[in-house]
Amino acid sequence: MENMNAYISSLGHFVPQKRVSNDELSKTLDTNDEWIRSHTGIGNRHIASEEETTAYMGYQAAKEALNKRGLTAEDIDMILVATVTPDYHEMPSTACLIQDMLGNKSCAAVDIKAACTGFVYGLEMGKGLINNGTCSRILVIGTERLSRVLDWTNRNNCILFGDGAGAAVLEVNDDETRGVINSLLRAEGSGAGALSHPKGGTKDPFKEGDVVGKDHYLFMDGRRVYEFAVRANTVILKDLMEKNNLSVDDIDWIVPHQANRRIIEAAAKRDKIPIDKFYLNMEEFANTSGASIPLALSDMEEKGLLKRGQKILTVGFGAGLTYGGNYIIW
Ligand code: COA
Repeated sequence: MENMNAYISSLGHFVPQKRVSNDELSKTLDTNDEWIRSHTGIGNRHIASEEETTAYMGYQAAKEALNKRGLTAEDIDMILVATVTPDYHEMPSTACLIQDMLGNKSCAAVDIKAACTGFVYGLEMGKGLINNGTCSRILVIGTERLSRVLDWTNRNNCILFGDGAGAAVLEVNDDETRGVINSLLRAEGSGAGALSHPKGGTKDPFKEGDVVGKDHYLFMDGRRVYEFAVRANTVILKDLMEKNNLSVDDIDWIVPHQANRRIIEAAAKRDKIPIDKFYLNMEEFANTSGASIPLALSDMEEKGLLKRGQKILTVGFGAGLTYGGNYIIW
């Protein structure tokens, strides 16, 4: 058996108060509740206010996770932040901003740029740092303010996303029977163009006099991403089960990236997994990219759905294109 000495000891989440329903969106956009629900399973999304920055939301989620565990910021050795919507374009990292908000003076802090798979990557990276003795307690946070990078006149993608944050305390384990057992972390860089934020990097930097145009916003080839996402989900779940000698019946929960109900249903059908094994909350929160899996886990915990000993698979997929999953015994 592999090392089992990192486990999620606490969870927290934060979503903005402002809740926008599909009906609300259809007042300014040529869309409707029936289309959005039937194509995505999304009913609402939460949208950040001026003050609710990516770092602020991550900080709130982290504070809740620390408080629940009776920890202070000084008990943390490292902050890993999964985000594609950092407060600042390249620097400083959102992790550093959260460290300062929490009041920790010196712990390591770094962002992970693996889009919607960021938290899945973060758990395994954190586990590695705990296993090799570098850290004993790590905050793994997913936080996103996607509302700021969307073209709200583009009905093909703005309907899909929302804002929010989730955080997990990953801790060294004195109990060998639980924890992040292992993970699959993968990427397919040949698909980089399918989902991107084209403008503003060093390849095409902002220049004086630039006028905001379509390439300032998130770009997505929806059909291509859909096909990739179904394939990624199917492969990761199959490979994770094989790697760990698990049958579908052994699994208590699958916590997927909450992109789109249709993607999950298609993958569930291919892998012959009953849909009720999947925890789905995109109806309320839409796709919150790197925040979606920790937000789902924290939401599940709040509802009393997570029990000691349960076997849980996570599965993420997104820009990069990245994909992966974790096998966790709760
Ligand atoms: N409301 C109403 N109609 C809409 C619409 C909306 N919000 N968005 C698109 N349409 C229309 C299209 O214009 C098109 O109309 P037309 O046939 O008259 O041209 C029709 O619906 C079908 O569009 P299409 O793009 O073929 O729909 P689709 O079934 O492929 O669904 C997505 C579109 C975006 C929902 C789907 O491609 C998808 O889920 N992709 C993956 C997205 C994702 O999850 N990304 C994040 C991954 S991390």
